[in-house]
Amino acid sequence: MRARFTGKTVVLGITGSIAAYKACEIASRLVELGASVIPVLTRSARELVGPATLEAITGNRVLLEMFEPLQNPEIEHIAVARRADLFLIAPATANILAKAAHGIADDWLSTTLLATRAPLLFAPAMNTLMYSHPATQANIALLAARGAAFVGPGTGRLACGDEGPGRLADIPYILEAAAMAITRDKDLAGRRVLITSGANHEPIDPVRFIGNASSGRMGRALALEALCRGARVCLIAGPSDVALPDAAEVISVRTAAEMHDAVMERLDQYDILIGAAAVADYRSAAVEQAKIKRTGPLTLSLVPNADIIAEAAGRRRPGQIIAGFAAETENVPENAAAKLAAKGLDLILANRVGGADCAIGAEDSEAWLIRAGHAPQSLGRASKSDIARRLVDAAAGMLPGRDTLS
Ligand code: CTP
Repeated sequence: MRARFTGKTVVLGITGSIAAYKACEIASRLVELGASVIPVLTRSARELVGPATLEAITGNRVLLEMFEPLQNPEIEHIAVARRADLFLIAPATANILAKAAHGIADDWLSTTLLATRAPLLFAPAMNTLMYSHPATQANIALLAARGAAFVGPGTGRLACGDEGPGRLADIPYILEAAAMAITRDKDLAGRRVLITSGANHEPIDPVRFIGNASSGRMGRALALEALCRGARVCLIAGPSDVALPDAAEVISVRTAAEMHDAVMERLDQYDILIGAAAVADYRSAAVEQAKIKRTGPLTLSLVPNADIIAEAAGRRRPGQIIAGFAAETENVPENAAAKLAAKGLDLILANRVGGADCAIGAEDSEAWLIRAGHAPQSLGRASKSDIARRLVDAAAGMLPGRDTLS
């Protein structure tokens, strides 16, 4: 996600919801991700969160009043409106939604919102009755029709004691939505991307399984990348602890057979399939009904699972792109090219595993992009998000009419 925010200016509008204190965390995460954050506090937000805290977090002056003497003429509402790559209003009250929907400009934030042409992202947070009021819903519909994006609200117990929609969305979801909103190049708009992700658990008895250590982080990075570029994304996700993007459709599966069926059911509707899952190659020939007792040596009989991506490649319709991964310890590009040919794939992202700095689960690894009929392209050491970007770039470039990969 870092690449999406580095060097970008995010204007963080904070309005007077009880959740305003969470804006400090949002600001801090955006700064960590490389954004320059300009906080704008409304008068009521100022009662809830201190400008000094936000200034310390962002290193930027907090914009408060319309007519305070300016220390820097650059920081003036039109200049800020122009400089913004994204306006994130979090939390957004019913009041700011109403003002933004109707072009009311009576304070710093609403005036700047009217002047900017940057993408707008609102994270509403308010009492559930205010949120569900037809006026608020109509304002949201108006803003959405003009291209504004929304994240949340979540549902649950609100500060006022009511239950229902109105909670500020969880911060990771706000950041993901911000990454999507700030990405202007929507080259996958209208495209559908199917991604397998994570591990499989192959049961051997009611409580035990054979599994692997795949974290699901690669699948998550790929999903985010495709979402940022405007694709509709479905993740067929094996067991994993990572939070998957809220904007993706997630189909949770456990075994390789379930993953296989979920992919085959949907394959036809997708433009790109990316196999990022560490699919279990074998399953137990028989799953015991009762817990296996320790009675001395145990021999398990394993049978092979279907190769999901190879089968998908075999039945793909013209124009569909099928991409996979290959984790290799030696002769990485050569072994990966052989895997590409054997499985009939369009594209493989190969990476080196094993060795001190190439452990599975490491933050970055030496990677190559392999495409049928082309020399392997070395990507050097690449992080999961770099890999996701390069792989999605390559797959997008291979879509019909878009063959741009040299
Ligand atoms: N894959 C799959 N179904 C399987 C096994 C693998 O779809 N049953 C996919 C993975 O998601 C990945 C690619 O195939 O995109 C390569 O997986 P890998 O495990 O490296 O390949 P294998 O065919 O299992 O070869 P190896 O003998 O090297 O393990």
